[in-house]
Parts: sequence; structure tokens; C-alpha cells
Amino acid sequence: MQVFDEITIHSPAKVNLMLSVHGRRPDGFHELTSLMVALKFGDTLTVRIRNANEDVLRCSDPAVPSGAENLVLRAASAFRERLERSVYFEFHLEKRIPMGAGLGGGSGNAVAALKGMNQLLGEPLNKETLHELAAKLGSDCPFFIDAKPAWICGRGERIEPLNASLCEQLQGVPLMLFKPNFAVNTAWAFQHLAANASENYRPEPVDTKGLEDSIQAGVLDNLLYNSFEATVGKKYVALPTLLDQLRNAGVACMMSGSGSSCFALPESRSVAPKQIKEIVVDGWGEEVFWVETSIC
Ligand code: C5P
Repeated sequence: MQVFDEITIHSPAKVNLMLSVHGRRPDGFHELTSLMVALKFGDTLTVRIRNANEDVLRCSDPAVPSGAENLVLRAASAFRERLERSVYFEFHLEKRIPMGAGLGGGSGNAVAALKGMNQLLGEPLNKETLHELAAKLGSDCPFFIDAKPAWICGRGERIEPLNASLCEQLQGVPLMLFKPNFAVNTAWAFQHLAANASENYRPEPVDTKGLEDSIQAGVLDNLLYNSFEATVGKKYVALPTLLDQLRNAGVACMMSGSGSSCFALPESRSVAPKQIKEIVVDGWGEEVFWVETSIC
């Protein structure tokens, strides 16, 4: 196996094409089912071994906290502890994924760090161990180990990859991401979901087979459901207002994760990307975060 001095890893954004929250578990986390896909759009993380006795994280965006609370540095501590070796790392993060967006940016960065450190040292940890470390870092983290279209269950740690033919159907599907100029805190969103549990939880099992048939038939609209949309939309009214406008114009769209970013699938209803962007800019202003990307 080739061992490198430095490694650069694509750290993709994710969206939930479907997200159903079933209820709160005794440990305080929520049981959910989600169909998660990674996007071509993402951050880039460069990892190097550092001849010193602390890790360092540099980030292109000064707004990103670069102290010990950053998930990349927490991943480095967890990795070192597991390996029982005093090896330290330098990380450079080219940040493009907005924070508090429901795009899994921080979770993806943490897993990119785990994979980068492991590759630099000649892969001392196997995939199962990386998965275990990832699950401790955050509920969305395990998905990013393979970052292939998958059903996510439990609190996020159970990953059931879609079969090759369904993955092929999804790969390359164009998708527009847009985010207003505010973020949504995930812990807050889960708490508010729980506060109106009877309206918000969907305890019945998800018909994953039926949804897979829709993917096979190329009808992704059938997937678009997000348990968070109603609760988060009550406080952040700009979200349902714009999503309603887009839906009225025939655009298939949804909020991703606990928000605040949303996405549209332009091909599913043949609405031109230019028209979608006009509606988004009209609703949220010129400074809106807007990216045209695709599922990878
Ligand atoms: O695991 P993570 O740190 O990303 O979770 C952020 C917050 O979201 C936690 O405070 C947790 O309570 C909540 N959460 C939840 N159920 C999940 C995932 C996260 O209640 N399945």
C-alpha cells in the first residue's frame, strides 16, 4: 500500500430526499428513516501529519470555529485515542458548504478527516472501526464513510445502501441547492419536533420498497417528504413561503434535513433552472446561497 505525506479529500454535502422522524428514544435521540444522497458539491479537506504535539485546523472561512469543538479536531482526538499513538495532524479545509444548512457539512468534514488520517498512516483502522468512531462524532457521520445513496435508520448510524441499479438511477440527477441568510440549529429543530410530537412524528414504517419502485421509475417526487418542514416552517416562515411558491409553479422541492437549505429537482417536472432561480431570488433576495449540482 502506498503511503502519502499529504492527502486531499472531497467532503461532499448531503441532502435527504426523504426524512421521516418516528419518535423519541429513551436515550433522547430520535428514531428516523431517511434516504440520503451525497452531492458533487462539497468542501475539500487536506490532511498532513504534523511534527508537533497538537493538531491544527486552518479554514478558508474565518466564520468556521477552528477550536477543539470543531468536528475535524474531535475526529483527530478520537482517531488518536483509538490508535493509541501520539500522532498529530494539520488540516486545511476549503469550506463551501454553508453551516446550519442541513447539508451535513460538519459531519462530512469529520469523516473526511478520519479517512484522510487513516490513509496517511497506511489504513491501520478498518471500515467497521471508522464507522464506530463516526457514529460517536455525530448522527449523520456514518453515512459519509461510503457516501453512496442509502437508507439511514436508527438515529442515523444504521446504513442500508441502495442496490447498484437504484444508485445508477440517482447518480447524476441534477439538483439545485438554495439557502436563506439564516441557519437552523439541529438540536433546536428536534426539540421543537418533540414538543408537538402527536402532529410531527410519523410512527408507521416507511414503505421503502414502494419508494424504491418510484426511484426505478424515475419519479423522485414521490420521495419528497420531510418531518421537519412544518415545525421549522412555523418559526422560519420564509421557508414554507418560498417552497409553496415553487410548488405552485410546478417545481418539485423540499427542505433538506432540519434546514435551512432547500433543494429542487428541476428534471422531475421539466421546470427550467433559470425559472427556479428567479423564484428563489425573488423570494429570498439576490444574496441567497445558490448552487447547481448533482447527486454523486
Ligand atoms: O448527533 P448530532 O450531534 O448530529 O445531533 C445533534 C442534535 O440533534 C442532538 O442534540 C440530538 O439530540 C438531536 N438528534 C436527535 N435524533 C437524531 C439525531 C440528532 O434527537 N436521530
